[in-house]
Amino acid sequence: MQMNDYIKLVNDKLDEFIPISYPNSIYKSMKYTVTLPGKRLRPILCLETCRMFGGEIEDAIPTACAIEMLHAQTLIHDDLPCMDNDDFRRGKPTNHKVFGEAIAVLAGDALLTWAPQVIVKNSKNLTPSVLIRILNEYFNYAGANGVIGGQVVDIECEGNNKDFDKEKTLEYLHIHKTSDLFQLAMRTGAIIAGATDDKISAVTEFARVFGLAFQIADDILDETSTFEEMGKTLGKDKLEGKLTYVSLYGLEDAKCKLACLFEKCCDIMETQNFKSDVIENIIKEIRKRTGI
Ligand code: IPE
Ligand code: IPE
Ligand code: MG
Ligand code: MG
Ligand code: MG
Repeated sequence: MQMNDYIKLVNDKLDEFIPISYPNSIYKSMKYTVTLPGKRLRPILCLETCRMFGGEIEDAIPTACAIEMLHAQTLIHDDLPCMDNDDFRRGKPTNHKVFGEAIAVLAGDALLTWAPQVIVKNSKNLTPSVLIRILNEYFNYAGANGVIGGQVVDIECEGNNKDFDKEKTLEYLHIHKTSDLFQLAMRTGAIIAGATDDKISAVTEFARVFGLAFQIADDILDETSTFEEMGKTLGKDKLEGKLTYVSLYGLEDAKCKLACLFEKCCDIMETQNFKSDVIENIIKEIRKRTGI
């Protein structure tokens, strides 16, 4: 499958997996951010990893969509006034701008609990033991030792000029706020395909490095891209005093680090014999956008 086939498949299923019912406002708010046109990278990586290891793409669709819902939850909460205070997401007003803060908080909470139910209710071909493994992965990466931990450190570092190990802290926060969902996507794709523990470890390392690179690219693009291209207000990281690779090392060194991490991704793919045009094209596209 090509990138566009995956996007179409995921978009159709996301729409199906969130029907509107009473109380309408919460379902509309959940569905609003989920169905806005994101790049769908996490579900694509889940499905593509499943394919790469010889699994049936269809078996991974509920999990892939659940991970996109979890991602949308992190975006809704990330944009709130008490977090990054952003007015635009995916080219449209942020969730709290449309539905108000209270509903946006509740929509995030609702997505966090809706997503694993989507997996349980729709993964007809997964055995109970695989299902439990997938849910365990979901709760691990979604929680305090996963993406939430990363977001906590991101917020705590904001505007902090005190003396602390910025290098180590920066890596922690990028790994958790961003790599964790890529790890979740690729690990679950591999588990559904029945991959060996060695292959799951290799894919975990790939996703760790890829996620770190992806967040560095996002930090670079926050300085160099446009609203039209990114669909969100840019230049905010500097304004808010965020700890990023750009703020710590400067734009050029951040680009070098990014190039280095993508080299590492390609090395892992080659040594592990991961064959994926889709993943190669994603890396190519980010390289082009960031000018590395
Ligand atoms: C945005 O992720 C949040 C980050 C981790 C930088 P994406 O850039 O994948 O956002 P969408 O899903 O395409 O909107
Ligand atoms: C977002 O990092 C990571 C999560 C949403 C978990 P950013 O705060 O840099 O993402 P954007 O730039 O708002 O998309
Ligand atoms: Mg943030
Ligand atoms: Mg943000
Ligand atoms: Mg950003």
